[in-house]
Amino acid sequence: MKSTKVIVSKSRVENYSGDLLVCLTTIDEDGAVQGVDFIQPTLKAFKMKEEFSGEKGEFVLLYPPFANKTVKLKCKRLLLLGLGEIHGKGDDQLRELLRSSGGLIAQQCKKNHAEEVCIALHKIDTIKQPFTAEYLTEGVLLGDYNFSKYKNHAEDKKTYSGLKKLLFSSPIHLSSIRKSVKRATNCADSASVARDMANEPGNGWTPSHFAMYAKKIAKAKKIKCKVFNKADIIRLGLGGLIAVNKGSSEPPKFIILEYKPDKKADTILLVGKGLTFDSGGISLKPPAGMMDMKYDMCGGGAVLAAMEAIADERPEAGVVAIIPSTDNMAGSNALKPGDIITHYGGMTSEIENTDAEGRLILADALAYGIERYKPTCVIDLATLTGAVIIALGHHNTGILGNNDHLINKLTEAGSACGEPLWRLPLGKEYEKQIKSEVADIKNTGGKAAGTITAAAYLQKFVGDVPWAHLDIAGTAWDFTEKTYIPKGPSGTGTRTLIEFVRRWRNGQMNG
Ligand code: BES
Ligand code: MN
Ligand code: ZN
Repeated sequence: MKSTKVIVSKSRVENYSGDLLVCLTTIDEDGAVQGVDFIQPTLKAFKMKEEFSGEKGEFVLLYPPFANKTVKLKCKRLLLLGLGEIHGKGDDQLRELLRSSGGLIAQQCKKNHAEEVCIALHKIDTIKQPFTAEYLTEGVLLGDYNFSKYKNHAEDKKTYSGLKKLLFSSPIHLSSIRKSVKRATNCADSASVARDMANEPGNGWTPSHFAMYAKKIAKAKKIKCKVFNKADIIRLGLGGLIAVNKGSSEPPKFIILEYKPDKKADTILLVGKGLTFDSGGISLKPPAGMMDMKYDMCGGGAVLAAMEAIADERPEAGVVAIIPSTDNMAGSNALKPGDIITHYGGMTSEIENTDAEGRLILADALAYGIERYKPTCVIDLATLTGAVIIALGHHNTGILGNNDHLINKLTEAGSACGEPLWRLPLGKEYEKQIKSEVADIKNTGGKAAGTITAAAYLQKFVGDVPWAHLDIAGTAWDFTEKTYIPKGPSGTGTRTLIEFVRRWRNGQMNG
């Protein structure tokens, strides 16, 4: 992965001689456009022509002499970027405003082939510089993302390969700005890792790749890693994972990463669906759009990528990550409709549709993880149902679970990250839909409330442990209305998990 250098310095922006200098403006309570002192003459010139009103997202790109005779700027281009009115906005709204402004800066850098950019942090109204720097950094780095690994031909090769350097110039608070920028870099880098995994095709990102990446993290960050291979998976009786893998020649992996700061720390269990390609199996999907099912590992990707940042930041909570991984293929030995399987822990399940495979591999991971690690709470992430797209579209992740506190905390973390979560209900009534005549449960619940019946299936494996399930099928990709999320996979969930873990205080679950 390409890494952009982020530098915080005191040096005066007037002396910055690089590709692009960015000056942010705000609209104050009297409706006047405010910005750094030295751009006042420029702003005045624009005001006369009424060409820049400083509304949110409005920008102008200027070339020397920048309509400014009082100060001689040395930069090659100047970007005036409006934040609009910021008074009265809450923290989460400001975060999102800064993130999308960061994304816009990245888009302008790309358009103008700017490889380095400097952002002037000199007093942005009432927002503190470290806060501003944190979310601008996140937006710039997330917006700068691109995936060109497989492009070989000269005409395909992009002449612009992204930002090399992002500079912040501020006269004060340098050390706290540096800390904020580091947090942002961790978040953005992890999300980019998750996007990279998702962009890889089914033959480029297999269960073995997941396992290798987990081992790499464990080694670099000095945390525990266990990978169960096919023989271990069979021996342990992870029946859902075995069943889904039956039609495939690609071996399954059951991957565990463990970060434990000390014995007394709470344990947060994260489970991610690592389905590296979902053909539907014998209940084969239609060909149109099937290739999108390389993204069916986004839950696993988010969990693994988040774990990398978590292991780096060493928060007070312990975190265990489990990724059950396989593809879902229609080989001659494949799972068939009507088959009955036995999950880890003994629950039997009748297979009505082999395309409802995500819940099968998650069930084992939940049952095993809860028994083995006795977690304080469990969170699973999965591109689980097409139904969640019908319910919520591409702008909210569906969240379901058995514990209000946990769901509220996740929703708050998501909101702080610009990854909104919307709760859907669970309840006994829905469980009727997954009753089987011949086994304990069956793996589909009919057309109605598909996201809820999928979660009801998972709930059978979590018991009383506080649990939340995030269905990211609608938000993991096709989420292209934000400046900081280029077309393709969004990396959704990654930053929310990191933020959730950062905010966790040991013992909070007990009230
Ligand atoms: N991976 C899919 C869910 C999905 C669908 C993700 C569309 C992203 C976009 C999942 O394995 C699946 O196939 N679910 C079925 C369940 C059904 C057979 C009960 C679905 O949603 O159609
Ligand atoms: Mn499926
Ligand atoms: Zn799937």
